[in-house]
Amino acid sequence: MVDERIVGRKPKSLSFEEAAAMPLTTTTAWETLYDRLGTNKRQHHQDESHILIIGGAGGVGSIAIQLAKNAANQSSILSSLSSSCDSGINVIATASRTESVEWCKRMGADYVVNHHKDLKSQIKQVVGIDYTDYILCLNDTDGHFESMKQLVAPQGKICSIVETKAPVDIGGILQQKSATFVWELMFTRSLFQTPDMITQHHLLNAVADLIDSNKIKSTLTEVLSPINAENLRKAHRKLESGTMIGKIALSGF
Ligand SMILES: NC(=O)c1ccc[n+]([C@@H]2O[C@H](COP(=O)([O-])OP(=O)(O)OC[C@H]3O[C@@H](n4cnc5c(N)ncnc54)[C@H](OP(=O)(O)O)[C@@H]3O)[C@@H](O)[C@H]2O)c1
Repeated sequence: MVDERIVGRKPKSLSFEEAAAMPLTTTTAWETLYDRLGTNKRQHHQDESHILIIGGAGGVGSIAIQLAKNAANQSSILSSLSSSCDSGINVIATASRTESVEWCKRMGADYVVNHHKDLKSQIKQVVGIDYTDYILCLNDTDGHFESMKQLVAPQGKICSIVETKAPVDIGGILQQKSATFVWELMFTRSLFQTPDMITQHHLLNAVADLIDSNKIKSTLTEVLSPINAENLRKAHRKLESGTMIGKIALSGF
């Protein structure tokens, strides 16, 4: 039995494999952008806002770029939840290989910088800005923490979905900037049975509508078949390599 509050309808236009790639990452990306960072609650003077998405080509990054860039602004559920901005935000994604850079651009990123090089100087050079209003960290929070502290705008917000391996210093420049640091875990609502659990059902249905109206693409890049121990190991090795683009699905017995 599955709790209706944490599932949504399968998009009609997707195969089962394409659909299977979506819910976990979509829920995560949606919650980071709208529930944690509040990118939809930008003021009108903030039309030129920027979000840095660290790890843009992974599963969560691929849907986060698409949502941030354009799709969710057209979603009725988002506007019913809060006042939403008309225009998409400028998306700076990070990727380090030709194929992952290309993928981020296909997902809609305006700029792509390399997460293995200094982010602040690249962003200054490529985008021409000193600070980003929002930062979404999808990989190596420890490794990126210092540059996120420097890069986040005064009164800006950082959200991470990857727990740190060691304690990090949230004082100093973050305090001076009155910056927000917020975690996201897509299991929080179900783990603590929060009264707003049904939000996940609504957001998944909203994204199914966006997919069926061609505003969001499935992030599936590979299907392994059949579902057996060997293919599970193969899929895990790929994930552990840290070079995943989009999502893998396993299919058929
Ligand atoms: N909190 C939650 O609710 C939640 C939900 C889902 C996932 N997660 C976690 O979030 C993380 C991301 O998962 P995912 O499936 O979206 O992606 P993933 O498959 O873990 O990420 C693969 C991508 O990471 C990039 N990458 C590799 N090293 C990096 C670095 N040092 N800095 C930035 N990016 C780097 C790679 O880009 P290049 O190849 O271009 O270098 C690759 O495209 C995982 O740790 C996962 O467990 C958390």
